[in-house]
Amino acid sequence: MASVIIAGVGSFLPERVLTNEDLSKIVDTSDEWIRTRSGIRERHIANEEEACSDLAVKAAKRAIADAKIKPADIDLLIVATASPDLMLPSTACIVQRLLGIPAHTTCFDIAAACSGFLYALEIAYAQLQTYRYKNTLIIGAEKLSSVVDWSDRTTCVLFGDGAGAAVLTKVDQSDIGILGSDLGADGEFVDNLYIPAGGSRSPASVKSVETKKHFIQMNGREVFKSAVRIMETVAREMMKQHQLTPDQISLVFPHQANSRIVDALANNLGFPPEKFYVNLDRYGNTSSASIPIALDEARRAGRIKPGDLTLMIAFGAGFTYGATLVRW
Ligand code: UT7
Repeated sequence: MASVIIAGVGSFLPERVLTNEDLSKIVDTSDEWIRTRSGIRERHIANEEEACSDLAVKAAKRAIADAKIKPADIDLLIVATASPDLMLPSTACIVQRLLGIPAHTTCFDIAAACSGFLYALEIAYAQLQTYRYKNTLIIGAEKLSSVVDWSDRTTCVLFGDGAGAAVLTKVDQSDIGILGSDLGADGEFVDNLYIPAGGSRSPASVKSVETKKHFIQMNGREVFKSAVRIMETVAREMMKQHQLTPDQISLVFPHQANSRIVDALANNLGFPPEKFYVNLDRYGNTSSASIPIALDEARRAGRIKPGDLTLMIAFGAGFTYGATLVRW
């Protein structure tokens, strides 16, 4: 069987930086509280004219250039996002138009919140193995600032905007690229992290806007506990399936939500903290974009070398989760 490799990666962060100090002028918070409770120091925020697709396109162009292909070479395009440009059509179709990707390409969005990039990766992998496709473009892109309540200090300090993308390509070589992937979800927890209005359950109305039901609501403590427990379980299972110990894995890319979650996860799994890549201090939680942004940064910083084994671990609203093992 052919392998599927990550042939190119790219990311994009909007120019504007919002520091904890800036936030302390908007809501009743402090740099000290945000840093000690979450590890976040600053985040990037898109401007009014920039939508999710604009961030996605910029990350995608970098991934396409990195993979040394052209937009016309892409057979399948998946955008993972919790903050799409529109309810209809998909952000993937908007990205397709902006990138000039030909009409015969399959394009769709997936809604798996912060686990979206790993969901997209697994779907793209399966499609490449099954169909005639050669190259797929997967993107995690978010303009979370558009769905955050800027008067709610319990959520607005946590999130940021950004996008990360990867080109997956089929190659005739074994034991390289995506070696394993395990995804899951537990719908029992849907009410712990959600946007109550704007969908068919509670369509937009004057009342829904007035009561701020179009913004993210989160039960932070429950999400925290579940994030540690579920990411630990899925990562442990992946390592067991592949008979791996922490010393055989060069670098781990956990979802970037909270440094206390990351530290607990590394500790519980028996990894030294330096093997867990962390950039949430600079970007906050960028949901589906968090893992591909980290991948791109680590690659450019020379922290991923040919032959290295890396593990990505995701967790998000739903709850959704996943772990993916990649040999570079
Ligand atoms: O992508 C996956 C989704 N997200 C996550 O993984 C996030 C998971 N949850 C968390 O990261 C943490 O639960 C938070 C960072 C959200 C909160 O940390 P915590 O240690 O669980 O704090 P808490 O919610 O228990 O709040 C402690 C106190 C409360 O005051 P009282 O009730 O003790 O008087 C809050 O009102 O801190 C207060 N508080 C704040 N104070 C200053 C909450 N937000 C803030 C704030 N600034 N921004």
